[in-house]
Amino acid sequence: MPFANPFGTKSAEPSGAGLSMISLRNIEKYFEHGPTKTFVLRRINLDIREGEFISIMGPSGAGKSTLLHLLGMHDASWTGEYYLLDHAVHKMKKNDRLELYKKHFGFVFQSYHLLDNLTVYENLEIPLSYRNVKKSDREAIVADVLDRFSMVGKKDLFPSQLSGGQQQLVGIARAIVANPKIILADEPTGNLHSSQAKEIMEKFKELNQQGTTIIQVTHSEANAAYGNRVIEIVDGWITPEKSTAA
Ligand SMILES: Nc1ncnc2c1ncn2[C@@H]1O[C@H](COP(=O)(O)OP(=O)(O)O)[C@@H](O)[C@H]1O
Ligand SMILES: [Mg+2]
Repeated sequence: MPFANPFGTKSAEPSGAGLSMISLRNIEKYFEHGPTKTFVLRRINLDIREGEFISIMGPSGAGKSTLLHLLGMHDASWTGEYYLLDHAVHKMKKNDRLELYKKHFGFVFQSYHLLDNLTVYENLEIPLSYRNVKKSDREAIVADVLDRFSMVGKKDLFPSQLSGGQQQLVGIARAIVANPKIILADEPTGNLHSSQAKEIMEKFKELNQQGTTIIQVTHSEANAAYGNRVIEIVDGWITPEKSTAA
């Protein structure tokens, strides 16, 4: 039997009765400077249900990116319990975590992180080749995503030939090309003008409406308004959530 999430049914969230997709229990992370420990995340308890669109907000240095990278399993040096679906992530080995990440997550970066010497098409193909998707299937999937993102005409351009907003659209397309359940985005519009930011947020909203769970870090109230829930972090602590009507 797969591991059953013991916390899923105990969620105190106001809306919905569904199982949690992600449960964090008493997560802590610190850095050591000689004899002193500097805590970056403190006793984090968080439940996220499938289909949510969450905004993580808070001052610079509060631990937002640290939490996002922890969720994305890029970082293993923390304590506590992390459940993803029927997996106890805190008990898993590094390679198994990587496989789980590749299966369920896509990541969107503030500064896009596209490969400059590859075309749009090639940038989108990379996550599929990492997942051993065969070439004919890759071609079909990339063609479909280019079509959905209205970027067919841009497929042979290099990132430097695109605007920032267009590069970030490619960043999002790359994040979803392998059909993840969850998108993690760290200040995805931080480098963009407001009109481009709006286009990016509209794309997230559309993906969320199609069922993708989205967790973004943002400083923008306007961006947060696209989501259904705000998690505020201050000095590594999650501040109590305001209850919203279901
Ligand atoms: N390698 C590191 N060593 C020590 N402290 C770090 C390291 N990486 C990040 N931090 C600290 O962790 C805190 C949280 O960082 P971060 O999660 O990037 O904040 P945010 O994304 O909210 O701005 C900051 O105080 C930062 O200085
Ligand atoms: Mg950050």
